[in-house]
Amino acid sequence: MLQAAAVDGDRLERMIARRVVGEPLEQVLGWAEFCGMRVAVAPGVFVPRRRTEFLVERVVQLLGSEIRPVVVDLCCGTGAIGVAIAQRLDVVLHAADLNPDAVACARQNVTMGEVHEGDLYDALPVDLRGRVDLLAVNAPYVPSDEIRLMPPEARLHEHHVALDGGADGLDLHRRVASGAPAWLRPGGTLLIETSRAQAESTAAACADAGLRPTTLSREESTLVEAVAPVIFVRA
Ligand SMILES: C[S@@+](CC[C@H](N)C(=O)[O-])C[C@H]1O[C@@H](n2cnc3c(N)ncnc32)[C@H](O)[C@@H]1O
Repeated sequence: MLQAAAVDGDRLERMIARRVVGEPLEQVLGWAEFCGMRVAVAPGVFVPRRRTEFLVERVVQLLGSEIRPVVVDLCCGTGAIGVAIAQRLDVVLHAADLNPDAVACARQNVTMGEVHEGDLYDALPVDLRGRVDLLAVNAPYVPSDEIRLMPPEARLHEHHVALDGGADGLDLHRRVASGAPAWLRPGGTLLIETSRAQAESTAAACADAGLRPTTLSREESTLVEAVAPVIFVRA
């Protein structure tokens, strides 16, 4: 793959040297395969994982018949999730990330939506409040103390802000869940990737926020799907 990507021998040598010191193949190549597409990946930016394709498939099942739903890819990294959704469905797409390298990379990938920079919901245009049909989130969820156990590709070559979920790994999940009801439309859905071991706690964070959570698993991928309440107001 490096040979195919390098334009000349010098370039190939430089790419091999980067790979030898543990830089992820995707960052060296400049792209990752995700949901059958090539997504641009810049140095330091989280490499989209194949397990996250499960989240995209679930979004497509959930939104298949809706007309131009509003989808937010929060903690978007390269924007892979949002781009894969927009390739499959006609959606109004917003993607957001805190990390400027990730935002620059997502701006390369997300050609059919808007990319915003900032801390979680603070990055989003205020007119989306209460109007989001689906929040698709793969936020960091590695407990801080377990980052040292990760392979060097992640530990040394992906920004720690993309991995570190705080002491129990769930700091971001709790913040995403508590902010979700204000941004989702009534009956809208938060889909959040988690691990099998953390699923119960992620689901509890969603329930604490007043959402109705269900846990879905496939192979090594686990999601919590949490629905916002629909409040009927009597006339
Ligand atoms: C695990 S990576 C996932 C990236 C992408 N969603 C994917 O699946 O490929 C988490 C991303 O969350 C971003 N992030 C971390 N803390 C954030 C925050 N407070 N607000 C917004 N984005 C944040 C990181 O910069 C990183 O790009």
